Amino acid sequence: MTSPADYDRDLISLLDFHVEAGADAALDERPHDRFGEAEERQPERRPSVPRAEPAPARAPSRPPPPQSTFGQSAAAKPGEAAGDARARAAETATLEELEALLAGFDGCPLKFTAKNLVFADGNPAARVMFVGEAPGADEDRVGKPFMGRSGQLLDRMMAAIGLDRSSAYIANIVPWRPPGNRNPTPQEVSVCKPFIERQIELADPDLIVCLGSPATQTLTGTKDGILKARGRFYPYRLANREVRALATLHPAYLLRQPVQKRLGWRDFRLVRAALDGKA
Ligand code: URA
Repeated sequence: MTSPADYDRDLISLLDFHVEAGADAALDERPHDRFGEAEERQPERRPSVPRAEPAPARAPSRPPPPQSTFGQSAAAKPGEAAGDARARAAETATLEELEALLAGFDGCPLKFTAKNLVFADGNPAARVMFVGEAPGADEDRVGKPFMGRSGQLLDRMMAAIGLDRSSAYIANIVPWRPPGNRNPTPQEVSVCKPFIERQIELADPDLIVCLGSPATQTLTGTKDGILKARGRFYPYRLANREVRALATLHPAYLLRQPVQKRLGWRDFRLVRAALDGKA
């Protein structure tokens, strides 16, 4: 028979196994069948047949998310979600309205594992807007982008060209943390893309700085890798004018590859030159 001490030991070794496999956060106390939840949200496709037997019990799941304003069916159909998101985002007239719309959007499953919506930080009236990939654990906890180590490096790089969070606006292409800091999937990016595009349009910056490959590829449409794309300006269409988007290396990459900081520094000098009308 298993003794309580054996049971505890088993549990601890199971936890160690998860940590070694890369799990760095407990999302909830119970597992969730997300596929089942998505199916439950689908409208019924055929007339229901009366059942003689009660339906088998499902694993207990988290209480349903608060009634969303839109996007639910999209959890299972990302293409529909992106269309839905685009139409609704286009109707927002201010960044506050857009943030409220995102808070009520249930079409991206990341929302249900994240603690907070990470919408933006900095000054929305700034001439320059930095766009990263997705929040990490620190950003998820605080509810603002670039709060952890990459954020500290970004702050130092901005300071070196005379910028700070009162003279720059900062957001991400995906506003919810992917669990365990994995990369967002292409579906998650495409569902969230209409929101960041509208956010850029409403902030109306003179210059967009794409931090890393996902932000660069999503916003400029280039397929080039970041080492080829960095240091280049791409045309970016806003509602009433064309501005430029500059691709550069992500601060998290620079933390992993400090030798590449010289390239990051070169790009940030270009940011300064562009803001001064010299590039
Ligand atoms: N990395 C990002 O791309 N965005 C953040 O907000 C934090 C880290």
